[in-house]
Amino acid sequence: MDTSDEWITSRTGIKRRHVAGEDEYTSDLAVKAVEDLLARHGDDALAGVDMVIVATNTPDALFPATAALVQDRFKLAAGAFDLLAACPGWLYALGVARGLVESGQCRRVLTIGSEALTKIVDWNDRSTAVLFGDGAGAAVVEAVPAEYGIRSMVMGADGSGGVHLHKRSVGKCLPGGEPLAEHVYMNGREVFKFAVRVMTTSTFEAIEKAGLQPAEISLFVPHQANLRIIDAARERLGLERERVIVTVDEYGNNSTASIPLALQHAHDEGRVAAGDHLLLVSFGAGLTWASSVVTWAPEAA
Ligand code: ACO
Repeated sequence: MDTSDEWITSRTGIKRRHVAGEDEYTSDLAVKAVEDLLARHGDDALAGVDMVIVATNTPDALFPATAALVQDRFKLAAGAFDLLAACPGWLYALGVARGLVESGQCRRVLTIGSEALTKIVDWNDRSTAVLFGDGAGAAVVEAVPAEYGIRSMVMGADGSGGVHLHKRSVGKCLPGGEPLAEHVYMNGREVFKFAVRVMTTSTFEAIEKAGLQPAEISLFVPHQANLRIIDAARERLGLERERVIVTVDEYGNNSTASIPLALQHAHDEGRVAAGDHLLLVSFGAGLTWASSVVTWAPEAA
């Protein structure tokens, strides 16, 4: 491919990516993320889980849902469905899980972001093939005391921007007649401009909804698509580099897995403590976006 490490690094910040094995699919990566969750938090970590949501753009199959495969692997007495909202899918899942728990409909919700994106890119298209990686992250959502947890949630969409980022399934074209691409198609410049715009507007909205000021944000956890986009949003929010989690160098863009993986990194590095206000934000195809302020709860001993 006609590209270079210099181009990729300077334009995106990506140094390394991870690629699923030939016979390894999104459900396999999701299962590994849940196994990791069990190894970290003990065998009871899935007790009481009565819903499984897998946010993904690369389900193993249109049906059965990838979430049902995960439910079966861990023999959970739970409902299961996939959620498709492009990169912000896991944040959307967090919002749905919050509603299910707050309404009393579910006790605990297993939310997973999992992707095998390298299987749907055109490896001859340098404008997309260098950007995406595979991975998965998982979290259990449960009720916490009122001063902690998900304090605000913003979810938005502008379907007129579907032309800028698409990949066909059963349809041949968009409602406006635009042919749908066989592999991932992206108008990088348009998505870049949109990303910087919504990363700022929707994060300010989430901070305001949470009743906070930007200065009170302890950690900014943005979607990991491009270091330049992250930097532009960080500057507009007035946050120093130390308050931002960056993992795009290590993983590239792994879409729905991006934020749960970044959160795990932040946690492993000891960068989150009880009471910290975390600002999460993502954007992607649709076009869609989501942002949320989460106040970290004390962890069970
Ligand atoms: N190697 C070398 N040259 C390249 C490569 C490459 N891999 N890719 C593109 N180029 C060339 C282009 O052909 C172009 O050449 P030209 O000037 O002769 O036409 C030049 O580099 C500049 O191209 P641009 O597209 O303007 O480069 P830009 O600085 O915008 O960076 C990028 C491209 C990295 C894709 C950027 O636009 C971007 O990050 N956009 C946002 C993408 C994103 O965040 N997507 C997330 C959503 S993904 C989802 O929801 C599934």
